[in-house]
This record gives sequence, C-alpha cells and structure tokens, in this order.
Amino acid sequence: MGIQFKDVSYAYRGLKVNYDAIGHINLDIKAKGEFIAIVGHTGSGKSTLVQHMNALLLPSSGVVTVFGQDLPPKKKEKINHLRQKVGLVFQFPEYQLFEENIIKDIMFGPKNFKSTEAEALEKAKRAAQTVGIDESLYEQSPFRISGGQMRRVAVAGILAMEPEILVLDEPTRGLDPKGRRDLMSIFKKIHDEEGKTIILISHDMDLVSEYAKRVLVLDEGKLVFDGPKEALFEHPDFDQFHLDLPTPLKIMKHMSQSLGIPYVPTYDFNSLLKYLKEVKA
Ligand SMILES: Nc1ncnc2c1ncn2[C@@H]1O[C@H](COP(=O)(O)OP(=O)(O)OP(=O)(O)O)[C@@H](O)[C@H]1O
Ligand SMILES: [Mg+2]
Repeated sequence: MGIQFKDVSYAYRGLKVNYDAIGHINLDIKAKGEFIAIVGHTGSGKSTLVQHMNALLLPSSGVVTVFGQDLPPKKKEKINHLRQKVGLVFQFPEYQLFEENIIKDIMFGPKNFKSTEAEALEKAKRAAQTVGIDESLYEQSPFRISGGQMRRVAVAGILAMEPEILVLDEPTRGLDPKGRRDLMSIFKKIHDEEGKTIILISHDMDLVSEYAKRVLVLDEGKLVFDGPKEALFEHPDFDQFHLDLPTPLKIMKHMSQSLGIPYVPTYDFNSLLKYLKEVKA
C-alpha cells in the first residue's frame, strides 16, 4: 500500500498572504524495499513534503493516501495511528529528548501508542540495540551523552514504535564524518535486513549517491525529478537541477577526461577504487 500523493499542494497560512510551500506533487512510494533520497535547495519544500507522509501536515489541496487512508480525513476518521506506521525523525531530533533517562525516552513512543510498560521496555531495548546504544547507558540522562549518541537515542525512540516506513529529515546534519557513517550504516542495515522503506532528506550528495536507490528532486516546491539515482546523475540536463555531483562521479569524470580511462559510473568510493585497480591491472 505505502504512500501516494495525488496533485498535492500545501500553503502555510500567513496573516495577510499564504505561502505556497509545495505544489501539485504526485508520488507513489512502496511500503517495502525502497531507499529514497529527497534533495533540493534550502526552502525547496523537503520538510513540508515529508510531514505529509504521517499526517503532521494535511494537504491544502489534493489527497495523500497513507496505508490506504486518505488525507485530509473524512469527518471522524482517526489519523493518529499513521504516526506509528510512518516514523518521522525530525531535523535535530535530539532537541526533543526530554525524559530523565535514555531508556524512558525511547519507551515514550510505544507507550503513547498503547504498549504496556513491559512491552514498551522490550521494544525500547530492541531499538537501542539496533542503533548501538549499550545497556550501560540506559539509566544515563540523555543530556549527558555525545551529540552522535543523542541522535541515535532519538532515532531509537522512533524505531521503538516499530514503524513500517522510516522517514529521516537530514539525520546526519551536524555530525562528524564518523558519526555520519555510523548512522548511515544503521539505516542501511535496517533497510537490508528488514526490507523497510527508508526516505531520507539530505544535502550530502555523497551519501545520496552511496545509499539511495531512487531520488526525488524538489525545486521551489515542485517535484522536478523522480527516478533511479543512475538516471539522475547521467541526466543530460543535470545542471538544471542545481545539484552537486557526488565526489566519486566527479573523480571518475575527471580521470576519464584527463587520463582517458573509460567512463564507468561508480556511486561510492569503494566501487571507484575497485574499478581503478581493475583498469590499472
Ligand atoms: N511554519 C512555517 N510557516 C511559514 N512558512 C514556512 C514554515 N515552514 C516552512 N516555511 C516555508 O516553506 C518553504 C519550504 O520550507 P521547508 O522547510 O519545507 O524547506 P526545506 O526544503 O526543508 O528547507 P531546508 O533544506 O532549509 O530544511 C520555505 O520557503 C519556508 O520558508
Ligand atoms: Mg527542511
């Protein structure tokens, strides 16, 4: 079932004028097996778009369908349960940590969705394990751990609700390179092992190129590209998207132009190195 957008627009209401943030978006996202990156300039509507996926925002016009339920809902239809089905990790999620210790913070979501204390604890422990938060940290205050660990606790809080789809709004922003890699490998593991659909907003084209299968490009609230990453980076009018090429592709282009090495697109550093070794042999 997944998530469908049919001609969806959203305008933030201002005092005098409304501000159109996204316009006429059509999308079909499968419940399983997708790894989608959403890219585009600051202010292009990425966060606005994803907040429609779990009914935090309701379309000004058009219809979003989340696991079979239409939004805006018909009168009396409950939509809260959609927040459990589609887990959304906000930009800088650590600002929302608030409990006295880590394990209670992770348990908050499942308890909110009617798990008993024991079930919530079980789910929280599983989520903590998935993100690599050790048991010895459970009783610690979430405000006394490193930035990278806080981010992981916040992600665990969403995972503990056992969402079917995981939506991440710039999850690696502000982390150091190791923190970024560690977090991305957690998402990749969840995707590979559980087949969960992952939707990731990112400005980091190297991460997008390494991890995403499909890319959505937003430009001033319009969806200007939706397709496999291979098609995006080889697009004849790539420049019109105002995006950076991922570094491995930049290096590949450069080597092929200046050294005459046959151009073969590679989307991460390991594949690039492997290819260059083969060419050299
Ligand atoms: N609460 C709000 N009220 C009014 N306008 C808003 C609000 N939130 C966002 N906007 C405007 O809507 C547009 C889209 O914003 P959005 O936050 O979705 O962009 P974004 O692509 O996520 O940007 P960034 O990369 O900076 O996070 C922007 O022009 C923004 O100024
Ligand atoms: Mg944003």
